Amino acid sequence: MNETIKSILNRRSIRAYKQEQIKDEELQIILNAGMYAPSAMNQQSWHFTVVQNKETLQKINQTVKSYFLKSGNQRFEEMAKSEKFNVFYNAPTLIIVSGDEKAIAPQCDCVLAMGNILLAASTIGIGSCWIHAITQLSNSEEGKSLISELGIPMGNKIFASGAFGYAAVAAPTAAPRKENSVNIIR
Ligand SMILES: Cc1cc2nc3c(=O)[nH]c(=O)nc-3n(C[C@H](O)[C@H](O)[C@H](O)COP(=O)(O)O)c2cc1C
Repeated sequence: MNETIKSILNRRSIRAYKQEQIKDEELQIILNAGMYAPSAMNQQSWHFTVVQNKETLQKINQTVKSYFLKSGNQRFEEMAKSEKFNVFYNAPTLIIVSGDEKAIAPQCDCVLAMGNILLAASTIGIGSCWIHAITQLSNSEEGKSLISELGIPMGNKIFASGAFGYAAVAAPTAAPRKENSVNIIR
């Protein structure tokens, strides 16, 4: 099996991280991989916000926590009630990918960029996990002000976000893949 296919099959979501920060060179490698994703009409409509500041990470976590507590979703409320709640599993780096809403397909562009980032991270020994709740920040006033504080460009929407750091646990085994998800017409 070639190395690229092996990497794709071996990437796993990691949900426990060491506190040691990833190296700047590693951050650059994975961001660059994101920027080399395909994009509709090569618009590269993405923007990457990297958060490594502990207080800012804490503030983002608190904002998600408040949002979860008021969400009306029992599962989210239960999670957020825990004192240990940390939406990005205490990872030292959070990457938020936002896209220009006026672009042709910003959601596709941003999600593909994040896909590249997750994969690239895994190939250089960095654990990662997609964190969906960050895409909901714009649903609360607190979240909206945080978005502007983070310098996410005006007119951009958050389409993807991920936690990154060195894994504090062994990668889990892959969940079985669904059967009957392919139809080949010949
Ligand atoms: C759109 C999307 C949203 C996700 N949101 C979360 C999340 O908020 N928290 C989390 O722990 N994992 C999240 N994940 C990771 C999935 O749970 C994970 O990819 C899936 O269980 C398969 O595991 P694997 O990534 O190890 O193959 C998300 C993945 C995707 C693609």
